[in-house]
Amino acid sequence: MTAKAREMKAAGLDVISFAAGEPDFNTPDPIIAAAKQALDDGFTKYAPSKGHPTLVEAIQRKVKRENKFSAEASQIVVSCGAKHSVYNALQVLLNPGDEVILFAPFWMTYADQVALAGGKIVVITTDVENNFCPHPDQIKAAITPRTKAIVCNTPSNPTGGAWDRNLIKEVAAIALRHNLTIISDEIYERITYDHDHTSFASLSKDVANQTITILGVSKTYAMTGWRVGFTVSNPQIAAAMANLQDQVTSNATTFAQIGAATALDSDPSLVQGMIDAFTTRRSLGLDLIRQIPGCSVNDPKGAFYFFINVKSHLNSSIADDITLANHLLETAHIATVPGSVFYAPGHLRLSYATSPDQITEGITRLKTALADLS
Ligand SMILES: Cc1ncc(COP(=O)(O)O)c(C=O)c1O
Repeated sequence: MTAKAREMKAAGLDVISFAAGEPDFNTPDPIIAAAKQALDDGFTKYAPSKGHPTLVEAIQRKVKRENKFSAEASQIVVSCGAKHSVYNALQVLLNPGDEVILFAPFWMTYADQVALAGGKIVVITTDVENNFCPHPDQIKAAITPRTKAIVCNTPSNPTGGAWDRNLIKEVAAIALRHNLTIISDEIYERITYDHDHTSFASLSKDVANQTITILGVSKTYAMTGWRVGFTVSNPQIAAAMANLQDQVTSNATTFAQIGAATALDSDPSLVQGMIDAFTTRRSLGLDLIRQIPGCSVNDPKGAFYFFINVKSHLNSSIADDITLANHLLETAHIATVPGSVFYAPGHLRLSYATSPDQITEGITRLKTALADLS
């Protein structure tokens, strides 16, 4: 959708894109300055595959300060973005046929990466009524002797749903009881609304030992193109991931890691403006979406996405969300992402990483286009 929208824009069409999965802000200046300085200072060589010590130490400070757990350097692996971190985790954990529990709607990369590791996904469906949070009984019912891991992503892409501390505790207890590894993707941890993020690894030493926490700088610091993500896990898993990465990419770009260290050590005020802007856009967008007849949307507690149920607008000519997303792009010139790619047909994901004017104009176009359909 993003690529098609870009092509249409290049052809001169006034396309509004709600498809982006990245902040529309620039990386803050001090982070850019630190990376430029790092180039001048010679951070242009290989670094240890599992991460430059400057960044590893900044990660240790960050998780202690923000995520409320301690990590030794031996527990940390820096990779080329959080996506790479998830890949490493699944590759070292899974044997062919092992099962991994996912909560739909989910970021499609998880399913593809489980397949790449020879595993099998077991999907638990969550719904808007529970703000896309699962019930612990659903998890208990999904566990089999082949279940190896459970992938949790709170706050979530695509729904913005976020789990509260009680749910996190219950899920952790189930994982411990059944000896499952928790892959906790917390990439949106700092972009939250009326919600305090809890890291699984902060619950207890036992839970931390069983958890691979996935973190990064892409979303919080608008650094998607820098390609720096990292994991904190037990030392055995960290060593296995580092061995794998050593033969695949070696280290993440050295001077980018120095920029990432500056990001992690920065004062929270550096990104507060961006988070405040998302908060304002979220309210604006929710108000507008809730005025569209036949659409429903949850209250996102984090990230920068609206996940809209459009089932009542589907009919015999526009029979599914993929057809609808294409129709909206072609006729109303708005780019959205169909819910099917997140294992949730009948929905559209709209990213509000775009200006308030574009949000207002784009959602107005959506309302008109849906009215024309019916
Ligand atoms: C849930 C989730 N995890 C991980 C990532 C990947 O982050 P990175 O850009 O650091 O690879 C994304 C990016 O869209 C995401 O939505």
